[in-house]
Amino acid sequence: MAIDNRMGGKMEKRIFLCQKSAVPANGVVQVCPEGRSDGIAVYDVEGKYYATEDMCTHGMVALSGGDLEGATIFCPLHGGAFDVRTGEALEKPCTIALKTFQIFEEGDALYSALD
Ligand code: FES
Repeated sequence: MAIDNRMGGKMEKRIFLCQKSAVPANGVVQVCPEGRSDGIAVYDVEGKYYATEDMCTHGMVALSGGDLEGATIFCPLHGGAFDVRTGEALEKPCTIALKTFQIFEEGDALYSALD
């Protein structure tokens, strides 16, 4: 489901990601929003939600298969790590930041402005 909202005079397209209940507490889930070919990783960090691209910037593997410790996601393939709040690469071999997406909460639903 996609909805359009006007914010600050700028048209912004919000895309439904998932229900909050689909995200494990202090964990991560992969969602595949309608109209996108790539997965998005949605994280719960102590009750606050974040979203990033799900593909590791070092290789072709989904970060949602890795371990989330606090706000750090560890890649399941080589152990590289990223800060899910900023996308910053924290551990080698990852050096390229992850793309992050803003989250909008509406009741139990999570939306994002994807591009
Ligand atoms: S594929 Fe993620 S650290 Fe290498």
